[in-house]
Amino acid sequence: LASTDVNLAPIAEGQAVTVMWRGKPVFVRHRTAQEVQEAEAVPLGELRDPQADSDRVERKPWLVVLGVCTHLGCVPLGQRPTDARGDFGGWFCPCHGSHYDTSGRIRRGPAPTNLAVPEYSFTSDTQIRIG
Ligand code: FES
Repeated sequence: LASTDVNLAPIAEGQAVTVMWRGKPVFVRHRTAQEVQEAEAVPLGELRDPQADSDRVERKPWLVVLGVCTHLGCVPLGQRPTDARGDFGGWFCPCHGSHYDTSGRIRRGPAPTNLAVPEYSFTSDTQIRIG
């Protein structure tokens, strides 16, 4: 399928789902206000791959990123509530220790770039279409 629709209604604040899109996992996270605030508060100068949180999301609470570590392609942990989310509260890649923040940006470890944001749009207040 070229595009994938995701119903956001069942995803409570603080929770996340993984959907498949073009053979790759996509992480959809309903961020808490605190997670959004943390993402927005980071000075761009501290980032290896400088991108403002506002340039990575369509709507603040919803972060949509490819679940593929930009180092060597492992799937980072952090989707399940019980997962380690790394030192910056986003995701942790157990393969070689990359830490991503609550905007999916690389903060520590070998990954060169942020988790990629796929093309997507809101088709209603509770649905997005990826691709
Ligand atoms: Fe993720 Fe190497 S593949 S840190």
